[in-house]
Amino acid sequence: MTTPNYQLPTPKGPPADHLAELDVQRWRREFPILETCTYLVSHSLGAMPRKAARYLQEYADTWATRGVRAWYEGWWEIGRETGNLLTGVLGVQPNTISMHQNVTVAQGVVGSCFRYDGRRRKIVMTDLEFPSNHYLFEGFRKYGADIVYVPSRDTMRIDTGRLLDAIDEDTILVPLSLVLFKSAYITDAKAVIEKAHRVGAHVVLDVYQAAGTVPMDLEGWGADFAVGGSVKWLCGGPGAGYLYVRPDLARTLQPGFIGWAAHETPFAFETGPVRYAAAPERFQSGTPNVPSLYSARAGYEIVAQIGVPDIRKRSLALTRRLMDAARDAGYRVNTPAADEERGGSVIIDVPNGAAVADELIRRNVIVDYRPGAGIRIAPHFYNTEAEIDHAMETLSELVNR
Ligand SMILES: Cc1ncc(COP(=O)(O)O)c(C=O)c1O
Repeated sequence: MTTPNYQLPTPKGPPADHLAELDVQRWRREFPILETCTYLVSHSLGAMPRKAARYLQEYADTWATRGVRAWYEGWWEIGRETGNLLTGVLGVQPNTISMHQNVTVAQGVVGSCFRYDGRRRKIVMTDLEFPSNHYLFEGFRKYGADIVYVPSRDTMRIDTGRLLDAIDEDTILVPLSLVLFKSAYITDAKAVIEKAHRVGAHVVLDVYQAAGTVPMDLEGWGADFAVGGSVKWLCGGPGAGYLYVRPDLARTLQPGFIGWAAHETPFAFETGPVRYAAAPERFQSGTPNVPSLYSARAGYEIVAQIGVPDIRKRSLALTRRLMDAARDAGYRVNTPAADEERGGSVIIDVPNGAAVADELIRRNVIVDYRPGAGIRIAPHFYNTEAEIDHAMETLSELVNR
């Protein structure tokens, strides 16, 4: 086992006491679903902030009253402005993030920046990546790419040593999840980026399971690309995927999978080869997904207001409570015990896990189940210790039945 050199960025200013129990209660009032169930599934679909509905209404009102004028009164720039709301979460400069439908589309744009018909054509991934990362890059075989899967020793951690060894002068891309979806293991992204850079390869970090719960310093780590979405810890809903490109790369890369929004003067409607806009529009396809970008803002604002370092502190306390309860009950836990290796979820593997998860949901304890992993339980800043205890008591009752 290798220990990641992942380090939490130091929180700015004194520790916040706005995450004390009383304020958790205040934040809870911003998320209507928390009044109706024990919602422990933010690794899958974060709770909807009350103000997302207001923003969607604002979108509808703008469409209804301003019509086509809305494009030049803000809608055309909405991608750049929404991306800029994520700079703190990712730890990057403004104007480096473009918005896309989802992670797959963002990865597709990255993949389209490179050629795969020369000597350097290996795409190296571990076997524990999210499946669509495999599916998408498998498709690049038709352009000449060699896909290399690095096996892991178990289903919890990637084998960092093997991954580093597999990255060589023939490697062009290394797609890597910062937090694994199946175990919440935090990978040693910094070591992978350093190795990739030593041999001239690029890392595409999938930060979906980290963004909004694990602090990041992508610029400090030298990340080339990062992709993610808003559905989970960012509480931003579907349709708001994002792509970060390192500014020096962004100046020269020529993505192939682009549309008119990537043109320097889109409203000139020039035909023929594209004249690329500067970043981040350079990586854009067509018309932005305006309603999704309106609603995503609500979650981004709340996460930014609390701050990911403080969310992380609370998340660690709650996941530790879950892990302790699971350990005391003698359950197999498929998540690293060490805080510095663990993202925001805890995966508990009990007999008949799928059926137990279904029954938990029937009893209003909302979790999910992943085959080969177990029941995934994901507290966020709005969950309470009492909810953790209730979930674990219900789980034990079902397992012992
Ligand atoms: C790590 C990770 N990457 C990618 C995805 C899927 O992303 P999208 O549906 O936006 O393509 C998920 C979804 O669960 C995920 O956990």
